[in-house]
Amino acid sequence: MAKSFYIILKERFPRSVSFARKLLRGGTGQVQKTIQGQGNIFTADDATLSGVKVDIIGDNNRINIGSGCVLSNVYFRLRGSGHQIEFGEACRVSRGAVLWFEDREGVLRVGPRTTMVEIHIAVTEKAKVIIGEDCMFANDIDIRTGDSHSVIDVKTGERLNHAGDVVISRHVWIAPHTVVLKGVDIGEDSIIATGSVVTKSCEAGVIMGGNPAKVIKTDISWKRERLAKT
Ligand SMILES: CC(C)(COP(=O)(O)OP(=O)(O)OC[C@H]1O[C@@H](n2cnc3c(N)ncnc32)[C@H](O)[C@@H]1OP(=O)(O)O)[C@@H](O)C(=O)NCCC(=O)NCCS
Repeated sequence: MAKSFYIILKERFPRSVSFARKLLRGGTGQVQKTIQGQGNIFTADDATLSGVKVDIIGDNNRINIGSGCVLSNVYFRLRGSGHQIEFGEACRVSRGAVLWFEDREGVLRVGPRTTMVEIHIAVTEKAKVIIGEDCMFANDIDIRTGDSHSVIDVKTGERLNHAGDVVISRHVWIAPHTVVLKGVDIGEDSIIATGSVVTKSCEAGVIMGGNPAKVIKTDISWKRERLAKT
């Protein structure tokens, strides 16, 4: 029986065929793409995608979704050039996300096995959002590197609110309805309590809560499992 064109290509150039297939299809599932510009790359190596939209106006933007990731209803909205988005392996984004990039050379890096539900991440002014491995983000979380608009000191005419990187270390739990603002660094194993507005950094192993969030407990860690009372 005659071999299909695809089989022949796959035998002769196995790596390039699989790369091209992933580039076009974005792993398992469909990706709706609206792209204006050049050199934009979306790869999803063995990820499972549903309802994913990639909307880019700009050049040389890269989105790489690691193997084993499951992404549902994620909207990648990029304006400008040189942005980089990377999800490590086995991340899960459920119920939807908006990943919103403006200006240029913004970075979002999400560590392996991190899970998110209904998240909004906004990256502007060349800033970075770096999220460690095995973090757990509940529903309705907003993370932003900037304020999108300028706050001006009327005496000097200077802008007061430039963007800043957000760093969330490994194994951080962020409870629902929380906002993490520019320049915040959250230490590993920490928990951000429900409904917090985080404007300042915190050390590892604490619970922060409130608006503005303050440390409410120290010497803390957490587990995804509900442990029985002993
Ligand atoms: C972070 C959390 C787990 C901490 O629980 P906990 O260790 O039992 O904390 P406590 O209830 O002992 O509260 C400690 C203190 O922090 C305060 N506090 C608790 N949650 C707070 C919040 N969301 N904002 C502000 N303060 C808070 C308490 O009033 C208490 O203050 P006090 O010492 O002056 O009395 C819990 O506050 C929380 O946010 N739970 C929501 C979890 C959730 O939504 N899970 C489902 C999706 S992931």
